[in-house]
Amino acid sequence: MEFFDSHAHLNDEKFNEDRENIIKSIKENDITKFVSAGYSLESSRFAIELGKKYDFIYPTCGISPNDIPQTEEELWKELEQIEELLKTEDKIVAVGEIGLDYYWNIENKNLQKLAFIEQIKLANKYNLPIQIHTREAVMDTIQILKENEVMKKGIFHCCPLNRELVKEALKLGFYISFAGPVTFKNSKNANEIIEMVPIEQMLIETDSPYLAPEPVRGTRNIPINVKYIAQKIADVKKVDINVIAKNTYKNATKIFEL
Ligand code: NI
Repeated sequence: MEFFDSHAHLNDEKFNEDRENIIKSIKENDITKFVSAGYSLESSRFAIELGKKYDFIYPTCGISPNDIPQTEEELWKELEQIEELLKTEDKIVAVGEIGLDYYWNIENKNLQKLAFIEQIKLANKYNLPIQIHTREAVMDTIQILKENEVMKKGIFHCCPLNRELVKEALKLGFYISFAGPVTFKNSKNANEIIEMVPIEQMLIETDSPYLAPEPVRGTRNIPINVKYIAQKIADVKKVDINVIAKNTYKNATKIFEL
């Protein structure tokens, strides 16, 4: 069986002590490919470095809503640097993670929106899909996507378990990527949301080192745990885990054009 973890941060400092060992163990545990997602300029550069070192790691680059600078002037400078990476590094598979986060930040909504829209433009310019981070910002996220068409579409990473959001995202032709929260015992509507998403429009991810799924919840998350998410989806969809592994793998290679 092969798994594709469509979103992990092996570029995160929480892996500084044992990154090489974790990456080696991934191959031995059926994780054949994974995306190392950028969220800031620095982490994007590091994701690219990992992609150069390992053929089965694919980088994304972008500035997340939680990592945008304080001022518009600084933001433009960083966007220029991101564009430089997109121009020169051909292994980048998506612009991301980008989006809106009103849970952590409500004072800089306009700057978040500007960063999101400008990075959608970059994705279109460089012919790439986007990886979206959205939290407590359903309406604005959907509105921006409706007003700014993303040519290569994209993925709602660690998709919030929100009916309206999932409905609109599917209608717009985006993929829904499920992470640890669908396995949490207190997530009331996980089954309902999993039922809503056709297997053809679904991805799986760990968002390592965050959000470790049951039964390893609370630990530092690693891509190997993507199996637990696949198993949860398989249980809800009443299919073998193989079906989920195979289809999410196929969907990931399609959207990332591998
Ligand atoms: Ni992430």
